[in-house]
Amino acid sequence: MSTNATVEKIVSLCKRRGFVFQSSEIYGGIGGFWDYGPLGVELKNNIKRAWWKAVVQERDDMVGLDAAIVMNPTVWKASGHLDTFADPMVDCKECKHRFRADELAHGVPASAHGHAAEAPVVRCPECGGELTEARMFNLMFRTFVGPVEDDASVAYLRPETAQGMFVNFSNVLQTTRRKLPFGMAQIGKAFRNEITPGNFIFRDREFEQMEIEYFVKPGTDEEWHQHWVEERHRWYLNLGLSPERLRVRRLDREELAHYAKDTYEVEYLFPMGWSELEGIANRTDFDLGRHAESSGRELEYFDEETGEHVVPYVIEPSSGVDRLFMAFLMDAYDEEEVRGETRAILRLHKNLAPTKVAVLPLSRNEKLVPPGREVWALLRPHWMTQFDDAQSIGRRYRRQDEVGTPYCVTIDFDTLTDQAVTIRERDSMEQVRVPIANLVSALREKLEG
Ligand code: GAP
Repeated sequence: MSTNATVEKIVSLCKRRGFVFQSSEIYGGIGGFWDYGPLGVELKNNIKRAWWKAVVQERDDMVGLDAAIVMNPTVWKASGHLDTFADPMVDCKECKHRFRADELAHGVPASAHGHAAEAPVVRCPECGGELTEARMFNLMFRTFVGPVEDDASVAYLRPETAQGMFVNFSNVLQTTRRKLPFGMAQIGKAFRNEITPGNFIFRDREFEQMEIEYFVKPGTDEEWHQHWVEERHRWYLNLGLSPERLRVRRLDREELAHYAKDTYEVEYLFPMGWSELEGIANRTDFDLGRHAESSGRELEYFDEETGEHVVPYVIEPSSGVDRLFMAFLMDAYDEEEVRGETRAILRLHKNLAPTKVAVLPLSRNEKLVPPGREVWALLRPHWMTQFDDAQSIGRRYRRQDEVGTPYCVTIDFDTLTDQAVTIRERDSMEQVRVPIANLVSALREKLEG
């Protein structure tokens, strides 16, 4: 991330260029909910695709799952969420602002939910008013299933995707005939009624998780934990995050969630400080054990080598798409002086860039636009592309730089005679001339080579 990237600049870029909009903006918005625009949905899909490729497609020990958001409420009793998935909350008696007591006590966001209430700071940081005693507030959104709103029909929007994988352990084991170690991966929405959502899309009430539950033989868990910490750290580096802004931190004992024996966090240095992108926890046999006890069903693995039934231990790398989206954007944003002008540029990894190629006729001249459209039609089956013929070519290059498009293809008057176009590279601004007949293979080499 260049020193130029501030949260304000990224928020403004996201709105101006169609990455992220406030949810229900025309009605004044709603705190903690966001809509992803045309470029945002592409970036988000590319992050998810890169993750799925690395953790499912390219591995021989992983399978995917897509479980329902609403589950039998007993799941949340067994998992401990009904009893412990809560944050301490205090209210200002004067200005009515609401705060997380643990944040007021530490001055920084806490990483795991479910800690005991800290002694509240006595005064409101907004107005200096008196604060209430801390009360525990459960973060799960409640709803009702069916037409009757009574205790028997209460259900919850999942606060993590993980439980869908635990309760499907036997289904997946039987249908895929896996041996330990093996894992499941899932991408999906999660919901938390955060007391203080904020820092743009960093902490939301509706967000998307990418989670892995990796089942191992007890006794091999620490080794596999290290494996996943290294794998996941490398994934961020391979996608271009600055090494000096990325770190892996082992949590202190008092920071651990109720289910964890040990946890590492991958953290990014945002303008608001080092903050969690992903938690990699050793959840032991806590979840399978709790669900087996609560459901009365065996959630075990038969080890043919030893002839014993074991309850596998679980390593869980769990990340949030929205947080990664923000980190990749902040890290890629830069401003530089080019011929006396400032150019804003998103140096996004090519695999993440929302648009791969922009097709730009030199001008709106009637001779240039038709071949420009033909080139656009040639490229559309292969990549996400844009066609732009409005304003000067310099301004159009700047517009593409600002949204991270790695390549622009320019059609000029020479194209009409030599059947060639110019490919301009985003970061170096270097230009090469390529025959239209070779354009797809030349771009493929650059984008995928
Ligand atoms: N299953 C484990 C679990 O859910 P977590 O640390 O609470 O662990 C995992 O969440 C990841 O989900 C976090 O590292 C973060 O990237 C993302 N996440 C959690 N709460 C979030 C929120 N309110 N807004 C956006 N992302 C969130």
